[in-house]
Amino acid sequence: MLSPKMQDALNEQMKNEFFSAYLYMAMAGYFQSEDLPGLASWMRVQALEEMTHGEMFFNFICDAGGRTHLLPVDEPQNDYASPLDAFEYGLKHEQFVTERIGKLLDLARTENSHAAQVFLQWFVTEQVEEEASFSLIIRKLSRVKDDGRGLLMVDQELGQRVFTPPAAAGA
Ligand code: FEO
Repeated sequence: MLSPKMQDALNEQMKNEFFSAYLYMAMAGYFQSEDLPGLASWMRVQALEEMTHGEMFFNFICDAGGRTHLLPVDEPQNDYASPLDAFEYGLKHEQFVTERIGKLLDLARTENSHAAQVFLQWFVTEQVEEEASFSLIIRKLSRVKDDGRGLLMVDQELGQRVFTPPAAAGA
């Protein structure tokens, strides 16, 4: 069973994950409008990943005997000054998510909820990867600056990304 406090916190994080999907779809729309289909495709894959993260919270709440509560999702930022600006915004968002996961894990420890601790551990590792992938792209885009040819190369490279459901998603 989940405590009411833990259930609320898990529902809140489920919303954050679904919001992430919404935010990255907004960024995909921005990249599409800038004729950068590779960056748009990368963001669409990222949005799909975030949907699976939201589903993992949904599944865990149900499996742990809790009650899901879908909360309102804010309008994401739709416009960005540049591709670099969008990825920097994305990194800040991932840092926010990392902080939220950390707080959730603290709560699970305080409540001695072993199941929640094990569940959340996957997200601790995932957040390290999330921040690393945004940071790497930021470094590439920073190097490219206003070089149009360089940007097209990054666009082509990022367009290769394919969606692979996380191994733990079906658990
Ligand atoms: Fe699911 Fe990018 O955090």
